[in-house]
Amino acid sequence: MKTIFSGIQPSGTITLGNYIGALKQFIELQNEYNCYFCIVDQHAITVPQDRLELRKNIRSLAALYIAVGIDPEKATLFVQSEVPAHAQAGWMMQCVSYIGELERMTQFKDKSEGKDAVSAGLLTYPPLMAADILLYSTDLVPVGEDQKQHLELTRDLAERFNKKYNDIFTIPEVRIPKVGARIMSLQEPTKKMSKSDPNTKSFISILDEPKVIEKKIKSAVTDSDGIVKFDKEKKPGVSNLLTIYSIFTGKQIEDIVAMYEGKGYGDFKGDLAQIVVNSLKPIQDKYHELMNSEELDKILDNGAEKANRVAQKMIKKMENAMGLGRKRR
Ligand code: AQP
Repeated sequence: MKTIFSGIQPSGTITLGNYIGALKQFIELQNEYNCYFCIVDQHAITVPQDRLELRKNIRSLAALYIAVGIDPEKATLFVQSEVPAHAQAGWMMQCVSYIGELERMTQFKDKSEGKDAVSAGLLTYPPLMAADILLYSTDLVPVGEDQKQHLELTRDLAERFNKKYNDIFTIPEVRIPKVGARIMSLQEPTKKMSKSDPNTKSFISILDEPKVIEKKIKSAVTDSDGIVKFDKEKKPGVSNLLTIYSIFTGKQIEDIVAMYEGKGYGDFKGDLAQIVVNSLKPIQDKYHELMNSEELDKILDNGAEKANRVAQKMIKKMENAMGLGRKRR
């Protein structure tokens, strides 16, 4: 069986973007691959986090992974900081990274723009991500489009390490969904939807109440021509809503467009809100059930144990390849 690794930051409640771009793919793939799904809390602290909020988000994200359909019997679900190998390997991967290539990363530029104090961790986020992936000899990484650049860098770093030290890493492939690879902000549809966006109207959280979802979709920015049509360039807002509609109903975009011919945005948005509310309801119910049970901690303990076992083996190979420590381990 080939191996998959992917992670999500506990930097807020996951959005429709995270669900469509990442989690939906995970569910489809868990039957065919040996999967590692990680709650990447060490990535989350590259920007300021509230301690109590972060802890809450870690458990909440674990419950959400399961509520959307990840089966902990099939996939290994764990918290990054509970597997110290990630930080160890992250440091080694930092030492094969060049500052110039890290500074060129779009995420670093976006998240550091206009800030007075930027953590060094924000710059070295990609080598930590490379470590996450390479520790498990990952073949495939399912992510949204925004992570493609980091994945390319992971491949470069793995190849560089293999050439310079020893050929120990599998070079991972990226898997990006054909539809929904980049769900856009509801308020600024040329920007991606993000869970840490300070404007909460810009995203739909997977745990939003029905009334909140309706309100957010109804106030989503569109345009003034009133025609439901897919055109990413000229009509980014409507196109984004059409993409969400298509994903949740399984209908082709052209069929949805035909359904709303001659109708205004009001009908379209009202129906979409209902579709999203109904689709999220079973996930929300399962989530609340899990948050009130002890099952979650057992799943995460088992996940950390397995991940630690596998990751430690790779740490030994990395340290031996680089000559760390007094003797070969
Ligand atoms: N808007 C999006 N559309 C499709 N996929 C998306 N992903 C994120 N946003 C979208 C995918 O979700 C996975 C988890 O992402 P992450 O939490 O590790 O970090 P991120 O990409 O930076 O996501 P956010 O929501 O924007 O988090 P914050 O606001 O904390 O930075 C990844 O596979 C990502 O591609």
